[in-house]
Amino acid sequence: MPLNVDKGLGNTIAADTQLSFIDGAKGVLEYVGYDIDSLARNSTFEETTWLLWNGHLPCAGELTEFSKQLRSEYAVDARMLEVIRSIPRTAAPMDALRTLVSALAHFDSEADDGSTQANQRKAMRLVAKTPTLVANFNRWRKGKPIVQPDLSMSIAENFLWMLTGAKPTESMSRALDVCLVLHADHGLNASTFAARVTIATQSDMYSAATSAVGTLKGPLHGGANQEVMEMLLEIGDLSRVDEYIKSKLDRKERIMGFGHRVYKAYDPRATYLKTFAKQVATDTGNLSLYEMTRRIEEIVLAQPNIIEKGIFPNVDFYSATTYYSLGLDLDLFTCMFAASRMSGWTGHCIEQLAANKLIRPHADYTGPHGLTYQSIDERTEPVTSSTSPSVKGTMSVTA
Ligand SMILES: CC(C)(COP(=O)(O)OP(=O)(O)OC[C@H]1O[C@@H](n2cnc3c(N)ncnc32)[C@H](O)[C@@H]1OP(=O)(O)O)[C@@H](O)C(=O)NCCC(=O)NCCS
Repeated sequence: MPLNVDKGLGNTIAADTQLSFIDGAKGVLEYVGYDIDSLARNSTFEETTWLLWNGHLPCAGELTEFSKQLRSEYAVDARMLEVIRSIPRTAAPMDALRTLVSALAHFDSEADDGSTQANQRKAMRLVAKTPTLVANFNRWRKGKPIVQPDLSMSIAENFLWMLTGAKPTESMSRALDVCLVLHADHGLNASTFAARVTIATQSDMYSAATSAVGTLKGPLHGGANQEVMEMLLEIGDLSRVDEYIKSKLDRKERIMGFGHRVYKAYDPRATYLKTFAKQVATDTGNLSLYEMTRRIEEIVLAQPNIIEKGIFPNVDFYSATTYYSLGLDLDLFTCMFAASRMSGWTGHCIEQLAANKLIRPHADYTGPHGLTYQSIDERTEPVTSSTSPSVKGTMSVTA
């Protein structure tokens, strides 16, 4: 069969899924047929996770039982606290999370049990424990005592509790819960693809989740929300927005939180979050930040050809101010994305295994052929002048 070249795989369907549907041209996102906007308004992260994993909304009894099971998995093995303390306090939380998600496997006797039932239990553990790992690491790096999870609380409420040691208000928990719902799944995005590639080798759920966390870290994927907030803090004041954004656009630089590989219309996750972010910012005394985001949106969307190019605010643009208003450190933003997407990653792993096929595309080899091997004595030394052009670069170790 002739092979197609499709760098970035943007024109390739590599899996079937029943978790989420995206129509990028129309700006539609559905989880199992339910519009994301209605889920953000009405559902909870626990219910959304059930929906993604079971293909239908739970009845009241199912949701109560599911929430109970999740809560019973909030705590991590005491030895995980030793692992946390072995990570330098200066480590980036996403790097720490990558290590910690991987380390969970060592304390799970089912880590290598590939049965569907064991994978479902591991999915539950990963979703329940990821917020605990993030909060515990954050407390450790700040020299504060670890706060044990409170099993009477939802995932969102319990995370804020473990992070601060104070019971959050209902509106704070709700704000975080909305962000968790909005980020839970998103088709075959880069980190979900990484998880599916890993599990497709019949590796284990913890390895797949670790691949996914590492992939999410990049600024072109999960790291953009932190960069949005850094930009807002750098601008500092509404009066400076116009000059800052216009000069960035003049320099042909990208505005973080705008554009999306799939959406060429308004990101449907940003629609409700935009209104919601205003409420959260008002409640927490951060309205000026919100006003800055609105002004940035106005300026960017007024640029010639920008709408034709399909550049609109994405989910990161408005989640950034929401997380900031909740008091989260900037470098925890992507960790919250991971805590949410864990439900999608694990759901995709189970779906992949149900009809598994090793994922193995080809590379288009562009190097030379038929070279004659020379002994090391016959090879000429490279020219070391700094002005000599290097086509491919040379790997070397220098003192
Ligand atoms: C997400 C992203 C990587 C998608 O990229 P993509 O689909 O490959 O789109 P391209 O890089 O081909 O860009 C298409 C055009 O839109 C422009 N563009 C894309 N994102 C832009 C942004 N954030 N700000 C300004 N212009 C942007 C590009 O300059 C390009 O213009 P050109 O055709 O005149 O050269 C890109 O939009 C981006 O870097 N956004 C900022 C990071 C971000 O917010 N990521 C989170 C995604 S949820």
